[in-house]
Amino acid sequence: MKQITGNLFPRIRDKQLPEAKSARGVWIEDSEGHRYIDASGGAIVVNVGHGRKEIAKAVHDQILSCHYAHPTMFTTPVVENLASALANHAPAGLQRFYFLSSGSEAVEAAIKLARQIHLASGKPERFRLISRWKSYHGLTLGALSAMGRTAFRVPYGPMLSEVVHIPPPYCLRCSYGLTFPACEIHCALALQEAIENVGPEIVSAFIAETVSGGTLAAYPPPDGYFKIIREICDRYGILLIMDEVMCGMGRTGRWFACQHSDVVPDIITIGKGIAGGVLALSAVGVRQEHFETLRKASGSFVHGGTFSHHPVAAAAGLATVGLLEKEKLVQRVARLGSDLGVKLKERLADHTHVADIRGIGFLWGVELVKEKKGKIPFPRHEKVAERVWDALFEKGVLVYKSTGLAGTDGDAFLIAPPFVITEDELTFVADAIKGVLENVLA
Ligand SMILES: Cc1ncc(COP(=O)(O)O)c(C=O)c1O
Repeated sequence: MKQITGNLFPRIRDKQLPEAKSARGVWIEDSEGHRYIDASGGAIVVNVGHGRKEIAKAVHDQILSCHYAHPTMFTTPVVENLASALANHAPAGLQRFYFLSSGSEAVEAAIKLARQIHLASGKPERFRLISRWKSYHGLTLGALSAMGRTAFRVPYGPMLSEVVHIPPPYCLRCSYGLTFPACEIHCALALQEAIENVGPEIVSAFIAETVSGGTLAAYPPPDGYFKIIREICDRYGILLIMDEVMCGMGRTGRWFACQHSDVVPDIITIGKGIAGGVLALSAVGVRQEHFETLRKASGSFVHGGTFSHHPVAAAAGLATVGLLEKEKLVQRVARLGSDLGVKLKERLADHTHVADIRGIGFLWGVELVKEKKGKIPFPRHEKVAERVWDALFEKGVLVYKSTGLAGTDGDAFLIAPPFVITEDELTFVADAIKGVLENVLA
């Protein structure tokens, strides 16, 4: 264990963290020889497994050939090739990709890009963003303004910009007290009401995670949700931004999660696993027609960044896409994803404190409650998600915790393993979770 001394400003200040020494496949080993199965790929990042030689070689070769060339001075083949590779797998129309480093940066850029598309189209009055409660879009101030996770917003409340939030598709705790499908997806229709209230002529864009991830713990929308959203956006001339920073790049068993619903956004954001977690890389994808509008009107997007379009990060991204293709890993996620769901449900569904197990592909969430009837959450001060997480960590199983599903209360965790995990390892993870829940929440 490394002592909490020295000069590092650590992410966690109340306990000593083990030192990660090595990582291969789905396993991480610490300096004391303890092994951990990485059943969440860290923060849902390590999509193609730890220690991939193919990515290491691509990064190494790119550093030696050209590690940096400013994106307003040069283009590089690797960045061009990564954009083409993404366009190849993206829904028809999403043809242009702008590279940044983090998911938050991609969200910031997407919000600005929507505004700039309106400016270029002669609609300078459109600026207002609409988003959803219980969403996760990142922690920079623009992304945080869009985000709907109360506990993360409250400390910075006075500093956030005005974004209108509507209820999320979260049938377990429907904001309207309705039940799907009788509800006729009222939460999607709420977008129309919000637009009318705000003033349709000033709305720029609606941003939503295609599958709710970090806050709602892998909550896919009900069938038909995004079709309604798309239709409302089109009717009012509003751009649809689908945030796939967590759920894109094969995580749901399709290259892009929006391909499950056949809805094409105007703008898409991707990040996290795009470069396998080896280097910080994110991207904003936009429809060709909007790119053309922008090009004709002003020539460029008023945005930038020292590390945008970075060749070394792109090399890691291109090698990751190559592995997804060569090893057919997206198809593998589609094939094994429902098995993972079955394993979790078989072992956990009857537990007194498990309210729900939901997900898609390799993105699953288990939500915990104090009382199943009425879905009463544990009070936050009991720190249930943290206690379960700690006990799993002790057993060498890494999951990703999620809180704030019911105001500031609510406890859940995500299981989102690297795509290379074996079926036996999935069983091992599901068994371990069952054992821990029996102990911690007896
Ligand atoms: C949907 C979504 N958008 C944006 C972000 C922010 O990404 P980052 O943490 O890389 O800034 C996240 C991070 O979890 C996310 O899940």
